[in-house]
Amino acid sequence: MADAPADPRLFYDRHVFMCNNVRPEGHPRGCCMARAEAAGGFDKLRGYAREKARQLGIQKVRFNAAGCLDRCEFGPNMVIYPEGTWYRYESQADIDEILETHLKNGGRVQRLMLQPDQLPPKH
Ligand code: FES
Repeated sequence: MADAPADPRLFYDRHVFMCNNVRPEGHPRGCCMARAEAAGGFDKLRGYAREKARQLGIQKVRFNAAGCLDRCEFGPNMVIYPEGTWYRYESQADIDEILETHLKNGGRVQRLMLQPDQLPPKH
């Protein structure tokens, strides 16, 4: 296999993809958008995350609204790249903890992490 050329440096240090997929009420898988309602709504939570990152001095991070990440049953979901770490968040306090522990200090919030072997049930 030929050596791959070196990748250019990162433009953003991290991308946080936050699912805001909407499904019709009663869909067996549910959706992150509906589950985020209980915590104040997706738009408010994403806006909160952006502002909190700014307050914490976290730079070069982008919070993107994402389509379905296909782990709907565990949502509302976010996944942080380049690490590929998945979190379920339910409140602004969860977002605080993820931003401070993971994005700012490089740790992990074990209690909110999704594991690779957590699979959606078959429908
Ligand atoms: S609706 Fe969010 S992962 Fe599918």
